[in-house]
Amino acid sequence: MSKCHVPLIERYRERLPFAAGDPVVTLQEGSTPLLRAPVLSELAGAEVRLKLEGANPTGSFKDRGMTCAVSAAVRDGAKAVICASTGNTAASAAAYAARAGITCAVIVPEGNIAEGKLAQTLMHGGRVIALAGNFDQALEIVRELVRRHPIALVNSVNEYRIEGQKTAAFELLEDLDGELDALYIPVGNAGNVTAYWRGFVEMGASPRLYGLQAEGAAPLVAGHPIEHPETVATAIRIGNPARWEDAMDAATASRGAIRAVSDEEILDAYRLLARREGMFCEPASAASVAGLLKYGKADGAERVVCVLTGRGLKDPQTALEHNNGAVIRCNAEIGPIEEAILA
Ligand code: F0G
Repeated sequence: MSKCHVPLIERYRERLPFAAGDPVVTLQEGSTPLLRAPVLSELAGAEVRLKLEGANPTGSFKDRGMTCAVSAAVRDGAKAVICASTGNTAASAAAYAARAGITCAVIVPEGNIAEGKLAQTLMHGGRVIALAGNFDQALEIVRELVRRHPIALVNSVNEYRIEGQKTAAFELLEDLDGELDALYIPVGNAGNVTAYWRGFVEMGASPRLYGLQAEGAAPLVAGHPIEHPETVATAIRIGNPARWEDAMDAATASRGAIRAVSDEEILDAYRLLARREGMFCEPASAASVAGLLKYGKADGAERVVCVLTGRGLKDPQTALEHNNGAVIRCNAEIGPIEEAILA
C-alpha cells in the first residue's frame, strides 16, 4: 500500500495514543496534497505552497482529529458523540459517527453555517440543533450536556482531536524535508494552530506560526473575548476560543503572531486563489492567504505554507455572492450565444 492509502492512525500510530488492537474508525483521511502556488509566490516574494486540507474525506481538516476522537470514543464504549460547530466539525463528526454506527448530535449557530456543511451533516444522519445563539454559546451548552450524559465530546477541547490534527505538521516536514520557515493558518476555536505547533515541536522543528483571525471575530488579537463575533468566514466566527492559551503559546514560542484580516481581504484572497491558482477553498481558509498577502513581505520568510482548511464547495452561497463572474441567459439560438461567448 502506498502511504497515500494508509489511514491516518495507521500511518502515524507510533506518535498517536492508540494501541495495536484498538478499533480504528477511518475514512482514509490525511496524506493531503501540498501544492505549489506560483502566483502567490510571485506576489509574496517567497516560495509558497498550499496544504490542501479540503482533500480530506469530508472536505476539511477536521477529519484528522475526528478519526482519532471517534475511534477513542468507540474504544471507550461511547454510543454517541456531540459537538458545537460552525459546520465542518459537525459534518466530520456526523460522517465518522455514521461509519462507526453510533449517534451524533451537533449544535450549530442558526443561520450562520454554510449550506454544504449542513447538507453533509444531515445526510450522515446527524441530529442538528440550530441554536438561537453563536458558536461560543453552543460550546458552553455541549460542555454542560456531557457533564450530565455519557456522550463523548468531539470538539477540539478533546485531546484526541489535537493529536490527530498534529499529523498535518508531520506531513509538511516530510514533504519539505524539514525546510519550512513559516506557516499561515486560519484561527477560530484555535485547536488547529495548537495541533500544528504540537506536531512541529514533537519533530524538533520550529517554523513561525502566523495565525489569522477575521477582523470582526479576532479575540486573540483584541486580547479579550468578542461577544458578538461577525465575519463572512462563518467557519471562524468565534469570539472566545477554547484553545486560547495554547494558541497564544504557539504564536509566542514559534516567534510568530496572531493577526487579523478584514472580510474584504479574505474575499480578495478567496477570489485570487480560485481565479489565478485554480484552487477553490472556503472563505475561512482564504484567511491564511490574506494574511500572507498582507504581512508576508514584511515577515520575510522564504519557504512558506498556507493551510487551506476546507473546500470551496462547502459554501456555495458565499461563492455565488462574491465572484466577479456572470451567468448569461440565452435562448437556444446560435447568434446571441456566439455574441455572449465572444464578447
Ligand atoms: N478553517 C475552517 C474551514 C474551519 O472550519 C475552522 C474551524 C477553522 C479554519 C479554524 O480552526 O477552530 O481549530 O482554530 N471550524 C470549527 C467547526 C470551529 O466547528 O467546524 P480552529
